[in-house]
Amino acid sequence: MSKLILGIESSCDETAVAVVEAGRKEIASVIHSQISEHAPWGGVVPEIASRSHLDQILPVLDRCLEEAQLELTDLAGIAVTTKPGLIGSLLVGVGAAKGLALATDLPLVGVDHIEAHVYAAAMDLPAPPYPAIALVVSGGHTALYLAEGPLSMKPLASTLDDAAGEAFDKVAHMLGLSYPGGPSIAKLAPKGDPRAIPFPRYRPKDGSIGFSFSGLKTAVLYHLRGGDALAATPAPEDIVDAANVAASFQEAVVDALVKMTLRAAQDNHLDQVLVAGGVGCNQRLREVFAAASEPDGIETHFPPPNRCTDNAVMIAGLGWHLFEAGRAADLDLDASPR
Ligand code: KG4
Ligand code: ZN
Repeated sequence: MSKLILGIESSCDETAVAVVEAGRKEIASVIHSQISEHAPWGGVVPEIASRSHLDQILPVLDRCLEEAQLELTDLAGIAVTTKPGLIGSLLVGVGAAKGLALATDLPLVGVDHIEAHVYAAAMDLPAPPYPAIALVVSGGHTALYLAEGPLSMKPLASTLDDAAGEAFDKVAHMLGLSYPGGPSIAKLAPKGDPRAIPFPRYRPKDGSIGFSFSGLKTAVLYHLRGGDALAATPAPEDIVDAANVAASFQEAVVDALVKMTLRAAQDNHLDQVLVAGGVGCNQRLREVFAAASEPDGIETHFPPPNRCTDNAVMIAGLGWHLFEAGRAADLDLDASPR
């Protein structure tokens, strides 16, 4: 019997289709990134995203099946991201998945994008890492979960304001760096001194676990204004210490993410940590996690960089577990932004 699941992802600015066998083995993966379409606007424009998904979904599906050398009839089921994300974008993937399910009689399952990001960090491991602390750190989310299994995640803490990736994107914009800001800052940071500017690290007053990045973002802005909150923000070409700002900002974000995550692991007496989402590509985050985890006997796992950002391998992979758990949906499957 076939164990091949087709995954479809269209929640934000990547149109992605993949085929994965038995939740683990990637057979094919095709991603159309919309970065160049949104870059002129400095962020994702929802209307542009939906239209681009509509243009791309069938060509990406065809390329994926061609790469896999498979027909739709070879598949065991179809998994699609249903939440959270941009509603117009999600509906394109969900509509395509329903059409395929109707035409082929294949079973359908709806996948939570956040659970799928976490699964991406677990799917290549030789043994299941559960229970684990999961950190999801992307452009839209920065949150900690207690992951008891691939389909069981309890929220522990979330950002009060900006997501970490969003802060990278906004600070990059202040520095005149290209979108998306995470990779641009990560590239500039090694040229600067991470201790040059003591940017603030948020700590909840009651000693609990939590994240906040808007104060850090404002601190960067005031630093660029020479410490005078009311001064004009300098043009990017007039910023003299951009590399130090990038390095010190990145260090502050990494410091907050690592400290809070390892505290959550200690508080819950867990020695497994899964880190997922686009900011998981960040090399400094990987280094600091590795160095800080080891003394406490904690193991931190990241997906490979191409599975940190949005992809359909994680959707098809988690889809397998949903089918195994009897969670197939019917054709009134719906998308939801939250
Ligand atoms: O997971 P993702 O592709 O999309 C969302 O679901 O949001 O994450 C995109 C985010 C962007 O904010 C981008 O700036 C950030 O991930 N990012 C990075 C790096 N690569 C991507 N942030 C820091 N360092 C990176 N190397
Ligand atoms: Zn994502």
